Amino acid sequence: MASGAGVVLNSGHTMPIIGLGVWRMEKKLIRDLILSAIKIGYRHFDCAADYLNEAEVGDALAEAFETGLVRREELFITTKLWNSDHGHVLEACKDSLKKLRLDYLDLYLIHFPVATKHTGVGSTSSALDENGVLEIDITISLETTWHAMEELVGLGLVRSIGISNYDIFLTRDCLAYAKIKPSVNQIETHPYFQRDSLVKFCQKHGVSVTAHTPLGGSTANAELFGSVSSLDDPAIKGLAEKYKRTPAQFVLRWGIQRDIVVIPKSSKLERLQENFEVFDFEISEEDMEEMKTLDRKYRTNQPAKFWGIDLYA
Ligand SMILES: NC(=O)c1ccc[n+]([C@@H]2O[C@H](COP(=O)([O-])OP(=O)(O)OC[C@H]3O[C@@H](n4cnc5c(N)ncnc54)[C@H](OP(=O)(O)O)[C@@H]3O)[C@@H](O)[C@H]2O)c1
Repeated sequence: MASGAGVVLNSGHTMPIIGLGVWRMEKKLIRDLILSAIKIGYRHFDCAADYLNEAEVGDALAEAFETGLVRREELFITTKLWNSDHGHVLEACKDSLKKLRLDYLDLYLIHFPVATKHTGVGSTSSALDENGVLEIDITISLETTWHAMEELVGLGLVRSIGISNYDIFLTRDCLAYAKIKPSVNQIETHPYFQRDSLVKFCQKHGVSVTAHTPLGGSTANAELFGSVSSLDDPAIKGLAEKYKRTPAQFVLRWGIQRDIVVIPKSSKLERLQENFEVFDFEISEEDMEEMKTLDRKYRTNQPAKFWGIDLYA
């Protein structure tokens, strides 16, 4: 598999199989990280209005285009509609495009299958009620939001549209009402949370899967959610050693061999390089089988921490 490898989406567009996620990337580091990533060979960046750094990503991208480092059409840029903007899809998309300094997005995702109280376009708030519970808006259906996403394609603002954090029930429903099928479902998946049923269901119906949290969130999720990362798993360390790779490289390669797009985040230059060096080795079928035994059905990203409600319960 060449480093330029990509997944052909049901929209006909190709999505590079590895991308750089920018959640929790400090604003002041973004310019160097994005420009370095492009030099390394990254052509895919995963953003979101809620990461509050679209403007910094946009400045870095503009510099990359102006200096001739890369052309716009060589990059694949994803961003996401925040929960509080489900009733304002067009304005939210335009707001993201403005911040990212782009004419079009390669992929626009519904970040979570839940509409929440609107507090102004782009404010990406998660308003809580007097009990500290997320103010969920029960007047906007996901179907309504999806049809608004479809209109963005017609307007030429977005090339592909997709969903994120949808389970099988919600994905099935979306496929039933969609005039334009979702190209992607971006979900948490890593060795401790393999979700084979959901992955296979999506792929069977032409919905490509992107793994968010592909490294299990490593130390970042350990600090934020108190979770445990599979990068420290002795079995994974052993398998990585067998292939003379780091655990992160092994885990990313494992994801790619499941035909899943991976979007690891790192704020360390040497790790940007490390995480991209996953195209010159192949994990054997036996070891892919062995990996199945490590699943713990264990989510490491728990938004309930901020929302006072467990939407996955
Ligand atoms: N759709 C959604 O709801 C959703 C949710 C979560 C994430 N995402 C997307 O998915 C992307 C990735 O998820 P994530 O950042 O939460 O988790 P992740 O990529 O699984 O893990 C990031 C953590 O791993 C560390 N790391 C990176 N490379 C490493 C390596 N080679 N060896 C050891 N540790 C390494 C990073 O630390 P350093 O930075 O210090 O290297 C950071 O602590 C996000 O940036 C975002 O774009 C989407």
